[in-house]
Amino acid sequence: MSMRKIGILTSGGDSPGMNAAVMSVARSAAYYGIPLVGIKRGYNGLLRKRLDIREDLQELHLETVLDIADEPGTFLRTARCDEFRDPKYREIAVQTLRAMEIDGLVVVGGDGSFNGAKCLCEMGVPTIGIPGTIDNDLGYTEMTLGYDTAVNVCVDAIRKIRATSRSHDRPAVVEVMGRHCGDIALTAAVSTGSEIVVVPEVPWKVEDVARQLKRQLAKGNTRATIILAEGCYSAMAPFDLYGYLTTHGKPCYEGEPMSAVRFASVMKRMCGMVEARATVIGYVQRGAEPTARDSSFAFEAGNLAVRLLRDGISNQVIGMQKGRVMYMPIDEALRVKKRFNRRIYDLVNSL
Ligand code: F6P
Repeated sequence: MSMRKIGILTSGGDSPGMNAAVMSVARSAAYYGIPLVGIKRGYNGLLRKRLDIREDLQELHLETVLDIADEPGTFLRTARCDEFRDPKYREIAVQTLRAMEIDGLVVVGGDGSFNGAKCLCEMGVPTIGIPGTIDNDLGYTEMTLGYDTAVNVCVDAIRKIRATSRSHDRPAVVEVMGRHCGDIALTAAVSTGSEIVVVPEVPWKVEDVARQLKRQLAKGNTRATIILAEGCYSAMAPFDLYGYLTTHGKPCYEGEPMSAVRFASVMKRMCGMVEARATVIGYVQRGAEPTARDSSFAFEAGNLAVRLLRDGISNQVIGMQKGRVMYMPIDEALRVKKRFNRRIYDLVNSL
């Protein structure tokens, strides 16, 4: 069956390169003479939440898309969509796609979005996934779209933080995003020569990190950087933050969770330092212009997505293996366990 129209949506947290992927899908669809419909705010755009369906589904013209290609964020907007877990809402989505004569769908998003795509495939909608997330938390692919940019934003920020750390002989704590995955933290740490990295994949104790930092101080390194992955607190051994800080002259509220700022206060006191400051990089990582690596992945992935749909191949996700763009069935891809690079982790933490 030839495709009457292709739809595209971006879903989950935005990631640098999403617009480049949309541009590539638009150029490829135009090349093959297939009209492209942009769906707003992820799966929400298929649920008929607005009175006029055209507010959520609009034909994407090359003229518009060419202008947004290098911009950060996502022109199509994005959102998480809890309703999509419910088959009743997925049925509405399928009806919307049929009503709009959309015969194939490209979903750019992370694992949650891929689960939605898998359900649509099972309901007979040919779907292709492009892994758009900064987190690099999908086991089947060497990189996700936005990861390289997010790492480079962190590297840039950490280098600047290390410069001021050096000036003041002051250690620093930097927290980076990545949800439950430590890849951004690990790659940023090894790329900047940071001395300590703490990730959710490896259980850890506050006292052990303090010991590591003291070892650096004893060696004369007064400006070490500790990189914390935002998900690392889930792997932290129980620590009485309230008890420790209140008995060491720092007010804090009972039951307060550990955070980068509190962690810096604890390190300062455990290691007897004059000062230790924390920086949380956060959304800067997501809102950056895509690097060449992310943009080129987006370009190849977008084109492959359209070619697959045109050739009647669907229910696949696109990724990168051994440096080459590839595709594989969604359900198989979702079963591949994410591996963590323990060798690099040990290297960073041991020197
Ligand atoms: O999945 C991308 C990501 O930026 C994670 O790194 C982070 O944990 C999460 O999204 C933040 O989500 P929100 O957009 O809800 O703040």
